[in-house]
Amino acid sequence: MKFIDMVACNMENNYEVLEFSFTDESVKICLDKDKLADTIDYIISRANLNDIRDEVQKLLSTIREDPLNNPWTADTSILTNGKCYRIDPEVFIGNLQQIFDTFSLDRTRYYLKRLKKSTLKIKTGKVNDINLNRWKEYNHVNTDSLWIEKKRSRAGNHMASYWGNFIPQIPQQMMLRFTKQREYVLDTFSGSGTTMIECRRLGRNGVGIELNPEAAKNSRFVVESQENPFDVKTDVIEANSATIDYKKVLDERGIKKVQLIVMHPPYYDIIKFSENGEDLSNAASVDDFLDRMDMIVRNSAPALENGRYMCLVIGDKYTGGEWIPLGFYAMQRILSSGFYKLKSIVVKNFQETKGKRNQKELWRYRALVGGFYLFKHEYIFLFQKE
Ligand SMILES: C[S@@+](CC[C@H](N)C(=O)[O-])C[C@H]1O[C@@H](n2cnc3c(N)ncnc32)[C@H](O)[C@@H]1O
Repeated sequence: MKFIDMVACNMENNYEVLEFSFTDESVKICLDKDKLADTIDYIISRANLNDIRDEVQKLLSTIREDPLNNPWTADTSILTNGKCYRIDPEVFIGNLQQIFDTFSLDRTRYYLKRLKKSTLKIKTGKVNDINLNRWKEYNHVNTDSLWIEKKRSRAGNHMASYWGNFIPQIPQQMMLRFTKQREYVLDTFSGSGTTMIECRRLGRNGVGIELNPEAAKNSRFVVESQENPFDVKTDVIEANSATIDYKKVLDERGIKKVQLIVMHPPYYDIIKFSENGEDLSNAASVDDFLDRMDMIVRNSAPALENGRYMCLVIGDKYTGGEWIPLGFYAMQRILSSGFYKLKSIVVKNFQETKGKRNQKELWRYRALVGGFYLFKHEYIFLFQKE
């Protein structure tokens, strides 16, 4: 059975398996939870520290010798019934080594009990499926405010050619941290459907709003062609995010609220997306752009569940010899709307756009002459609905 099939039929009782499967490529071993728990109980029951350490040492050598084949390796039936403890062998060995290196009986027993708990019990918070009993294994989930993404993720059917799209890692990270599976994500500027594709890959339902009919049509096609192993709903609606009736959109889907809003607007007029006057890239001025953003924020915020998150992905612009801090202006407008409080500002490196790549030298010369710095970053502003 392919791993993806196993995850799909196993969703009900082993959600965390999925959280790792699409994002973390490291090799995993599948251990039989019950057998492992019995072994740990046996080790804990040893009378003294030396006996315990001997047993841990045996366990360590067995796993080190052949990580994929050991007495706790899960058989095929276990793989599909939620009794499989899927772990990177290096992490598992690290946990055992920590226990072995502990020289107090109480502490050793404490670590063993913790290992057993992390094997058997899932502890998640209110807004995601991250298993806090195994938090050390979530290296693929970013918690830093500086993101250096060297390259765009190639997984999924993304239209890399859509000028002005964001890298799939952005919606992916947002969903992993701020949604649970099967919850709803709203993208108010859907573009080429990057968020909707990631919704399918991560088992979240999604609604994307896109003004440009051609972009909406093309993205619908690409999103539909993305595998949908979790049978989630992902729709792209052609509409203006400032005026669309979100209550109707939610009612039609039989849901009360969405659990995450993703906003990746045009960065004012840096890229002109269409001739449509309602397109934010055709705003008459920076103030007009901000007024329109304000309308979209006020129109969409009631659709978001209280306590949940909204992220704004935006960059600054340079006009007439002046740096226009579009990101901070937009952030300020969002805070003034009264719906949200600011939770984080992430600075993310900026991949070169196709347009600028050829003119790299020219821009560097201009920067040296003009006394300014070239844009190499954009922002992800993270807000929580109060
Ligand atoms: C920066 S792009 C978003 C790209 C998207 N994140 C992706 O990865 O493909 C901004 C998008 O907003 C759309 N747009 C502009 N004004 C809009 C409005 N008022 N309502 C809905 N979409 C709008 C544009 O057509 C464009 O596709």
